[in-house]
Amino acid sequence: MTLFWRKWQLALQHLLYIYVLFLLFYSMYMSTLCQMCEGTVRQDSPVWDFCLTKGHIRGRCCFGNNTSNVDTIIGLDLANCSISHVEHLYNSSTTFIIDLSNNPISNLSDFIFQGFSHLTQLLLPSKLECPGGNASWEKVEVKNNAKICEGQKNICNQTVQMPWDCPENSFCSPYGPGFFECSCLHNFHGYKCMRQVRPPSNHPKQVGHYSFIAHVHCSLCF
Ligand SMILES: *[C@@H]1O[C@H](CO)[C@@H](O)[C@H](O)[C@H]1NC(C)=O
Ligand SMILES: *[C@@H]1O[C@H](CO)[C@@H](O)[C@H](O)[C@H]1NC(C)=O
Ligand SMILES: *[C@@H]1O[C@H](CO)[C@@H](O)[C@H](O)[C@H]1NC(C)=O
Ligand SMILES: *[C@@H]1O[C@H](CO)[C@@H](O)[C@H](O)[C@H]1NC(C)=O
Ligand SMILES: *[C@@H]1O[C@H](CO)[C@@H](O)[C@H](O)[C@H]1NC(C)=O
Ligand SMILES: *[C@@H]1O[C@H](CO)[C@@H](O)[C@H](O)[C@H]1NC(C)=O
Ligand SMILES: *[C@@H]1O[C@H](CO)[C@@H](O)[C@H](O)[C@H]1NC(C)=O
Repeated sequence: MTLFWRKWQLALQHLLYIYVLFLLFYSMYMSTLCQMCEGTVRQDSPVWDFCLTKGHIRGRCCFGNNTSNVDTIIGLDLANCSISHVEHLYNSSTTFIIDLSNNPISNLSDFIFQGFSHLTQLLLPSKLECPGGNASWEKVEVKNNAKICEGQKNICNQTVQMPWDCPENSFCSPYGPGFFECSCLHNFHGYKCMRQVRPPSNHPKQVGHYSFIAHVHCSLCF
């Protein structure tokens, strides 16, 4: 009998341990962004309006209502949060809209938005520049003391010669404002995609993946 209870006790202990770990990880993940600031997405704010038809709100985040990807963050409202420094927006690279307005942020690195290729609206304190430069956006305006960067341009569609382009045998894809990624075509790999697979095969799986990311602060692009 005592052995039975001892086993139960151990099992319970294990369960408790796992539960605490889960809570810890969950709160760490949530606290990094969605709970970075008190309350939930502010009513009638741009993120609120966006989320109304596309997802549901948890903390300061809007999560997509896609059953396949329940945990995808599609909107982030960190406005009026007394944030003075942004180093990382963790895995919110799936967002379409981010509001950082009304914060005492003095400096924002372009690299925070590397990989944010869906971002179509970004609200910033009015004195900050849009990441990637004005030319990386369709429209830049100042409204209600916020700088609004709207409609991320596809940097791969630029008409003017950029400081440098994707090399031959590679293709360009957007990778956030001011960023693009060059990926080798099938049958090419290695440094600047200069190495060709011989004999040319029809099995792209056999080709080693190689891609690199470039950053351009656009003032003369497009
Ligand atoms: C999204 O899902 C939540 C519950 O999961 C629901 O309350 C909400 O109405 C849904 N929103 C839309 C736009 O379908
Ligand atoms: C839902 O997911 C599908 C496929 O994954 C995608 O095409 C669609 O844009 C998503 N919708 C939203 C509102 O995120
Ligand atoms: C966020 O990052 C964590 C750890 O890096 C990962 O486990 C989780 O799947 C990510 N969530 C999303 C929505 O990408
Ligand atoms: C910012 O938040 C404070 C409370 O934290 C509130 O009193 C104030 O009205 C908010 N300002 C704006 C512009 O929303
Ligand atoms: C902003 O940060 C960059 C790099 O971290 C630094 O070079 C630059 O001087 C900073 N600008 C201001 C105004 O603090
Ligand atoms: C970008 O556009 C905004 C709004 O039109 C303007 O105030 C700002 O000076 C521009 N920045 C640069 C570097 O041209
Ligand atoms: C960029 O080019 C792609 C492919 O040519 C095209 O589908 C897309 O509509 C273009 N985007 C813009 C903003 O011009």
